[in-house]
Amino acid sequence: MTQRLAELKKRFSDAAEQVRDSDALEQMRVEYLGKKGEVTALLKELKSLSGEQKKEAGQRINGFKREVEEHLAALGKRLREEELERKVNAAEQYDITLPARETGGSYHPITLVQREVEAVFTAMGFVVEDYAEVVDDYHCFEALNVPKHHPARDMQDTYYLENGQLLKTQTSAAQNYIMRKYGAPLRAIFPGRCFRNESTDACHEDTFFQVEGIMIDRDISISNLIYFMKTMLSEVFGQQINLRLRPGFFPFVEPGFELDISCLICGGEGCPSCKNSGWLELCPCGMIHPNVLAAGGIDSEEYTGFAFGLGLTRLAMMKYGIKDIRDLNSGNLTALSQFNAE
Ligand code: DAH
Repeated sequence: MTQRLAELKKRFSDAAEQVRDSDALEQMRVEYLGKKGEVTALLKELKSLSGEQKKEAGQRINGFKREVEEHLAALGKRLREEELERKVNAAEQYDITLPARETGGSYHPITLVQREVEAVFTAMGFVVEDYAEVVDDYHCFEALNVPKHHPARDMQDTYYLENGQLLKTQTSAAQNYIMRKYGAPLRAIFPGRCFRNESTDACHEDTFFQVEGIMIDRDISISNLIYFMKTMLSEVFGQQINLRLRPGFFPFVEPGFELDISCLICGGEGCPSCKNSGWLELCPCGMIHPNVLAAGGIDSEEYTGFAFGLGLTRLAMMKYGIKDIRDLNSGNLTALSQFNAE
């Protein structure tokens, strides 16, 4: 027994030195400690011994068993550490000369057109202003010459909050604030999100974006309005845009207009996209009403100005050929991530 134990110990320690991975380790565990393993076989043989001999051999075999267990445990720990180190090293091997990976991120089409509009107007001396989405009745309507119970309110089905405030239905809601902030003369645009209780279809959403612009100075006329709109739209669409004005009614401008642009698809010849008229309705605008200037603290005898409210959502749809407005609020990244700044 002593002899066999000594041989076994030697065999075990030789074999242990050859172990390189966890599979080999498991094999050794089975070979020595498994039900049919070497140590178990030795323990079974104890039956044939008696008295002192049995006790002594038993102690030795159990001592060996503990050694084997401890040795295998230590080996397992070392293998796991080595494995981890290999993985870390592999992960750290990178080539700093490789070109940067594309992030896959992209801007929302509305953000893209908003930035273009901002860039063109900034270059023409306009400031870009931001304004709240929750506003009061005064700013959204009364300061814009739309008193309580005015029928024009019907066109903007408004979300009122319990505290009496409301979700702004139009970016015009910032006009008064900006007039008071800067006084005249003044050139500002203010993009923003608007809300109306609309039933949703391919052309209507309850949440959409507009960009409003105002220019106030001495002797501002409709010609200035036409010039700035034409310049901005030609830049955004990357082609010469013709436009026309038709009368339109909005209480905060006098006179008020609907601005149409020549159809982008047919260039004005007439096609299904423009219902054969050659024109697309784009943006309401007008000369700021004296009451609105007065509410903003501006002397309407001395100053005049124009205002426009451009549908940024509509502009993005026209520029990128987006057919359904609902795609824009959908969070559908496949649809939304295909547009990139030029
Ligand atoms: N705020 C108007 C709307 O959302 C659009 C508008 C019309 C804005 C005429 C203007 C304007 O600045 O002059 O229906």
